[in-house]
Amino acid sequence: MHRYSCLVVASLALVLSDTQSQSSSPQPSLKDAYQGCFMVGAALNAAQFTGQDQAEDAIIKAQFNSVSPENVLKWEIVHPRPNEFNFSLADKYVEFGEQNHMFMIGHNLVWHSQVPKWVFEDNNAQPASRKVLLERMRHHIHTVVGRYKGRISGWDVVNEALNDDGTLRQSPWLKIIGDDYIEKAFRYAHEADPQAQLYYNDYSLENEAKRKGALALASTLKAKGVPITGVGLQDHVNLDSPTTDQIDATITEFGKLSLKVMITELDVDVLPSSPHTADVSLSLASDPKLNPYPDGLPDAVQQALAKRYADLFRTYSEHCGLVTRVTFWGVTDKDSWKNDWPIRGRTNYPLLFDRNGQPKPAFDAVIQVAPKRAP
Ligand code: XIL
Repeated sequence: MHRYSCLVVASLALVLSDTQSQSSSPQPSLKDAYQGCFMVGAALNAAQFTGQDQAEDAIIKAQFNSVSPENVLKWEIVHPRPNEFNFSLADKYVEFGEQNHMFMIGHNLVWHSQVPKWVFEDNNAQPASRKVLLERMRHHIHTVVGRYKGRISGWDVVNEALNDDGTLRQSPWLKIIGDDYIEKAFRYAHEADPQAQLYYNDYSLENEAKRKGALALASTLKAKGVPITGVGLQDHVNLDSPTTDQIDATITEFGKLSLKVMITELDVDVLPSSPHTADVSLSLASDPKLNPYPDGLPDAVQQALAKRYADLFRTYSEHCGLVTRVTFWGVTDKDSWKNDWPIRGRTNYPLLFDRNGQPKPAFDAVIQVAPKRAP
């Protein structure tokens, strides 16, 4: 039998045996196909984990064994004002993850985006002092991580601290606290939940200069005994960039530092003029020429997307075990942030499930390249 057919049959048998008492689905699952290699996750929006989106709910339960919160654990949502925490949505996210026995990620604790202005200011709207900001950071991390201690298994502690050239981003965190804000964030998170895995997460780490900066940062943290467990490569990628060789080399280099490597925000942008970055502050003018597929993806692009996904998963699975998780940034094309970034209102096709929740050729391609397991 052809190797791919073998795999599909094996995956099917697994799905059937796992769900004997439930109605069985003929569709293979990502989590089963990659079992023993890495977890497969998805970032969820509130409609998905509060049960408002039943169709997507079914996909999530069938396909993934890890979840990340797309927005609900970001500072502006959980801690909108100095003495006000709002955990209503975050609690629902965690309940959903627990009910479905999923490995849960907390995203994120310290970032320059989606954080209210007051965090960096004193009572006179002047920059806060180092002491005040460190105490705010400690209080935020202890409260949020502490609330979900033993339930959320891994945290993106620091998100996007680097510039494209590998130097530290001049964020308010850096300007007010200084270089050691990163190590402080990790230490506070570790105090709040000593068992939690703690990650540094960023985009474009495949690019030489930024990768060098991240490797230097991670090795300095390790040398100082800072409790960092892993590095998240966001992998908001395009059809042709970065190359799988770059991705392969990046995973290998972080592995040499004895860090776990995770692909944390995977999607593949198929639209023209998509920049090689995931800088959320970028906003470009809309232009119909830059939205060429409003009514559907041409077959040639669909096939190119499937090939790109096959190449990506082949590369990731060459590092089974070192890569511990691959998480998609969304479930279906309908709810991807890529429809609105960096240009609002486009029709993008970055994920494995289409707008109706149907698996795309890219889904089959990802299943097909999964490592073959002994029967
Ligand atoms: C994005 C969300 O998907 C959007 O809904 C939100 O409006 C902006 O942020 N890198 C990250 C994620 O670490 O938190 C970002 O998520 C995408 C880029």
